[in-house]
Amino acid sequence: MRLVQRIPPEAPIDSFYHHPESNQEMICQGTACFVARGLNPRLWEQACFQEKRVYCLGRCYAAPSRSSDESLPIVEVHSRCAVVMERIGPSYEALWMARSRTPGRIVEDIEASELRGRGGAGFPTGRKWRAVHRQPSHIKYVVANADEGDPGAFIDRIIMEDDPHRLLAGMAIAAYAVGASKGIIYLRAEYTRAHDILQKAINEARVDFEFQIVRGHGSYVCGEETAMLNSIEGKRPEVRTRPPYPTESGLFGRPTLVNNVETFATVPWIIQHGPETYRALGFSKSRGTKLVSLNSLFGRPGLYEIEFGIPVRRICEEIGGGLKNGSLRGVIVGGPLAGIIPPSLLDTPFGFEELQGIGAAVGHGGIVAFDESTSIRELVEHVLSFAAYESCGKCTPCRIGNAALVRSLQDRSLKRSQWDEIISAMARTSLCGLGTGVAEFAQSVSRYYGKELASCFR
Ligand SMILES: Cc1cc2nc3c(=O)[nH]c(=O)nc-3n(C[C@H](O)[C@H](O)[C@H](O)COP(=O)(O)O)c2cc1C
Ligand code: SF4
Repeated sequence: MRLVQRIPPEAPIDSFYHHPESNQEMICQGTACFVARGLNPRLWEQACFQEKRVYCLGRCYAAPSRSSDESLPIVEVHSRCAVVMERIGPSYEALWMARSRTPGRIVEDIEASELRGRGGAGFPTGRKWRAVHRQPSHIKYVVANADEGDPGAFIDRIIMEDDPHRLLAGMAIAAYAVGASKGIIYLRAEYTRAHDILQKAINEARVDFEFQIVRGHGSYVCGEETAMLNSIEGKRPEVRTRPPYPTESGLFGRPTLVNNVETFATVPWIIQHGPETYRALGFSKSRGTKLVSLNSLFGRPGLYEIEFGIPVRRICEEIGGGLKNGSLRGVIVGGPLAGIIPPSLLDTPFGFEELQGIGAAVGHGGIVAFDESTSIRELVEHVLSFAAYESCGKCTPCRIGNAALVRSLQDRSLKRSQWDEIISAMARTSLCGLGTGVAEFAQSVSRYYGKELASCFR
């Protein structure tokens, strides 16, 4: 009798991912669906009993949600002008304009626009483009991060489905500016409709530039840029240590520009209207516009283009129409691995530094409101369980700590000292934003919901 099953060589990689290709109906277990679970408890129960967890289907406006739901959200512009939502279709005028200037001039324009990355960290886009532009390599890549893993976000999905050429034009302009010869779109596995639309757009785009779509396999951490590059290379998608940064040594060791879908989608407008016009929108160090997605507990869940500087309260109350039912307990912006905005701080302006100042983040722009039907204990357990499930396992505190905290919460043995020790280790030693994000979430809960958190301890 064989006692040990031989593991085929590809198993260590496949075992990392949560769901290889499947045509089965998926039911979402992400944060937007979790806080709305009371609207359809039976569907939520089904989500919890699925063999593979699904943490966002990009349908948070109809949460709790299922993959077969084809409804679309409200989409509106609430800034002085539409930037990302200004339709461009297959004209590629901005690309031809860009190619009539030097690559160096395009990099200067992006620097002058003060555009910052929309994937989460808000890194200056022009600075990243310059870093790739100055690399001497004759092979370079441009990669669009379309993994959109933050539960609560459906921004990139709607951009790709509604105006795929906008993303392709932004990527082709970036490639011209930095000297890249190939563009890869790393697309979230759950976004099957976006895949078909993008593929059609690539086939009909009359541009002399090569695009390729690479599909993800349901792992949140693959949205982290170095894990994503490993995934594209067919390696086990653990996060890479840095330096070197992808700008110097990225895909297959070549200089690589990684930007989020919304970042690329902003570029054609900047080229056509000029960096000064773009910079005139927004405020402080957060210039231009941002797409935000509001979850189903809002009166008007949907996708909105807003200008930086608008108070969070206006987004929630005027644009989002307040909550449909119940009273607001808090707002989670930019995914669950970030700080929560309590109702008392809703007048904070929506900007990178301003939200950071209250322990929250712009992140990718998903906005999930929750009400009193969700207790802080339940929310903490949900977020830690998400982090434990999605950890890549490279850092010990993240790999073991998240799971240990969930277990202790569930069997009511959690001690304050255990909490403090693990959270502090994750804050200090995590290699990527998943571990540090858990720490930010925990610190924010401790600061704004200290009394409720105390009830979680033994
Ligand atoms: C755990 C984790 C998940 C991430 N997921 C995404 C994602 O789904 N989409 C994205 O654009 N960036 C994501 N990021 C950020 C990327 O690593 C990277 O900073 C971003 O794609 C760069 O693009 P930008 O400069 O245009 O923002 C994630 C980061 C971490 C740590
Ligand atoms: S913090 Fe967690 S997800 Fe990020 S590299 Fe470390 S183990 Fe992996």
